[in-house]
Amino acid sequence: MLLTNLNAATMRDGYGLIEDAAVLIADGKIEWAGPRTEAPKGHEEVDCGGRLLTPGLVDCHTHIVYGGSRANEFEQRLTGVSYAEIAKAGGGIASTVRATRAAPEADLAASALKRLDALLAEGVTTIEIKSGYGLDRDTEIKMLRVARELAQWRPVDVVTSYLGAHALPPEFRENRAAYLSLVCNQVLPAVAREGLADAVDAFCEGIAFSVEETRRVFEAAKALGLPVKLHAEQLSNLGGAKMAAEFGALSVDHIEYLDQDGVDAIAASGTVAVLLPGAFYYLREKQAPQVATLRKAQVPIAVATDLNPGSSPVHSLLASMNMACVLFGLTPEEALSGVTRNGARALGLTDRGMIAAGLKADLVLWDAERPGDLAYPLGFNPLAAVIRNGELVRGTI
Ligand code: NIG
Ligand code: FE
Repeated sequence: MLLTNLNAATMRDGYGLIEDAAVLIADGKIEWAGPRTEAPKGHEEVDCGGRLLTPGLVDCHTHIVYGGSRANEFEQRLTGVSYAEIAKAGGGIASTVRATRAAPEADLAASALKRLDALLAEGVTTIEIKSGYGLDRDTEIKMLRVARELAQWRPVDVVTSYLGAHALPPEFRENRAAYLSLVCNQVLPAVAREGLADAVDAFCEGIAFSVEETRRVFEAAKALGLPVKLHAEQLSNLGGAKMAAEFGALSVDHIEYLDQDGVDAIAASGTVAVLLPGAFYYLREKQAPQVATLRKAQVPIAVATDLNPGSSPVHSLLASMNMACVLFGLTPEEALSGVTRNGARALGLTDRGMIAAGLKADLVLWDAERPGDLAYPLGFNPLAAVIRNGELVRGTI
């Protein structure tokens, strides 16, 4: 199939825009992409009506599998109670842990599918999903199984992260070290054995785990050959990102408080900076990530929804792109790179995120002329069609 009469944002370098382009798809892959006048001959042509083609979108940081709701905390925060205060009082992540432990697997899958559907409607073809609302062995495994299972129900690739070090479970309140032993010596090996996690994540923060505690988890991940990523420098600057860089972390996420030292460290390790403007927006944070410093150090920047019931009930990657521009000062080009090329890179995936020969044919056709049109509106979805592995899975061309 030769897609013709389109503008291709190949994302190979900036937008990598090719006007009046053609893209040849064969066996689920992109076989050729370039100007229409140079397209290979003799293929069935599909006219795309002059619309915009981008790579399939990658949401590289989500927590879409969870039980319960935290709408009550949203209301509390609006009266002035902080995210950290709610967490200290046994709400926050701990509240979702209670609900997730109690939820049957089928219920978790059903509610996660609804969230997934919202993301897929905007052209997401690859999603990362974290555990971290079970904390005990069985519930963490249940969450990761549900995450993997979603790919059987929808046309999407699911990448999973084991986030055992998300919060200290109440049954370990008096014994942090014992919980970390459980994570490192029992749950992580079990999860690795069953092939349930593609990476290991942790929450390094005053209200969660210290740098040294996180290091323990990363050592265990490394011993099992699993890559790491980190929720770091979201509410304060503990130096977690710098430590993560020592482990060659795939990404450090949030990073509002990351300083020059931390930026230099992740630049050297090739770690992706994942910006999560949804959490910044919902928590009404004041300190934005140092985008200019990241740019100067040529750190790849990704953007994700962080879809979760507490800090970021954001079910839209397009809205996240817009917020990354308005709240953090990203250019629309950086925002689109953030949900394509750099989103893929944050997951260690080199076979997608751009329109180039040899890559997976995950593509989105938009009722838009220019790539800048995607980050510009809020609450408007110009999606026309989604192709995944070379097959049309949504819309019409
Ligand atoms: O990415 N920062 C830690 N974890 C999630 C929030 C989880 C929650 O509040 O339930 C985040 O923001
Ligand atoms: Fe998160």
